[in-house]
Parts: sequence; C-alpha cells; structure tokens
Amino acid sequence: MSGGRVLRLGVLGSGRGSNLEAIARAIDEGRLPAKLVAVISDQPEARILELGRQHGARTEVVAPSTPRGRLDAKTEEQFVGILRQENVDLVVLAGFMRIVGPVFLAAYPRRIINVHPSLLPKHRGSNAAAQALAAGDRVTGCTVHYVDEGVDTGEIIAQREVPVQDGDTAESLQARIQKAEHELLPSVIASFATHE
Ligand code: GRF
Repeated sequence: MSGGRVLRLGVLGSGRGSNLEAIARAIDEGRLPAKLVAVISDQPEARILELGRQHGARTEVVAPSTPRGRLDAKTEEQFVGILRQENVDLVVLAGFMRIVGPVFLAAYPRRIINVHPSLLPKHRGSNAAAQALAAGDRVTGCTVHYVDEGVDTGEIIAQREVPVQDGDTAESLQARIQKAEHELLPSVIASFATHE
C-alpha cells in the first residue's frame, strides 16, 4: 500500500455480490488501498447485503417505489444521503439493476463507476453474454465505465477481453466474463486511490 489516503467506497448492487467479494479480497490482500464503508441495495434479499455486513460495511436497503428501471429523485436523495454520511469518495455500481439520474450524478461527478459484462459500446443492457453469442462474436469481455444518465453509455475507463469458446452457453461465457470483472474492477478502483 502506498502512503496515500484510503479511498472510502460505497457499493450499490441488486444481486449476488461476487464483484463486492473481489473488491473485499483485494482490500484484504493489500492490493487496494480502500475501505468498504457502505453497501446499499434496492433488493432486501440480495446476497450483496450479507457480504457487506461480513466485511464490516454499513448496509442499507433503499426500496424505490417502482420495481425496476430509473430511480426517482426522492430515492436518489436517500442513496446520496447515506453515501454522504459515510464520506464516500467513490461509488461503485456492481450489478445494480437501476438507472441513476441527475441528483445522484450531480452529487458524485466522475465518481460513480459501473462494471458491465461486454466490450462496450457493444451489447448494452441485460443478458450481454447471450447478446455476444447471438451476434457470433469470437471475443467479448467486460468494461468499467463512468456512469451517466444512459444505460451503459458512460465514458469507458478500462476493458478486458474474454475469448468466446466453441460450445459456450450464455452461462459458461458469463462465468468467465465475471472472472475477468473480478480482476478488472479492483484494479480500476486502485487507480482512483492512486490518483486521489
Ligand atoms: C456483473 O456481471 C456485472 O457486470 C453486471 O451485473 C453482474 C453483477 O454480478 N452489471 P455480481 O452481483 O457482482 O456477482
């Protein structure tokens, strides 16, 4: 770890939280000078919340009024309020199935990043591995990008390629893409820590 300050991380997710585990592992192993301070989900049963608790983060459920899609301004304020209370420096979306809007973006300019399982701008939205197979791609991968008001449209920070193998299913391909995500995302977060 360098002598620089420790980046305070807020992670938002709706599901399994394997990227959160990868972040926590990188912190534990001294590869990432960061502290996991808040984990917030829109899904009360999401495993990511349990993982957040295990790793000592504050965990919160903020349940928007709509079941999916774009966050309303009031809900965005709730998310931002929690992140501000914990003095979060960088917000990481890891499997967060919501679209953030202007309130959130204004609170954390160029401080919200997302991981997506394709080589953007190809295959935005859900089921990206299946989209890559349907398109006949021989190479796909994952992307970490800044978040803007679109769906997987923000400026690209880093990408990693994953070859498609003969006989791949959407599930087998997604599993290998996720392995690549688990290396790429902590390394991108580490670059934010270094450049603070
Ligand atoms: C990842 O594949 C990510 O690219 C996508 O959602 C998935 C989240 O997985 N946005 P997990 O919850 O981190 O396991």
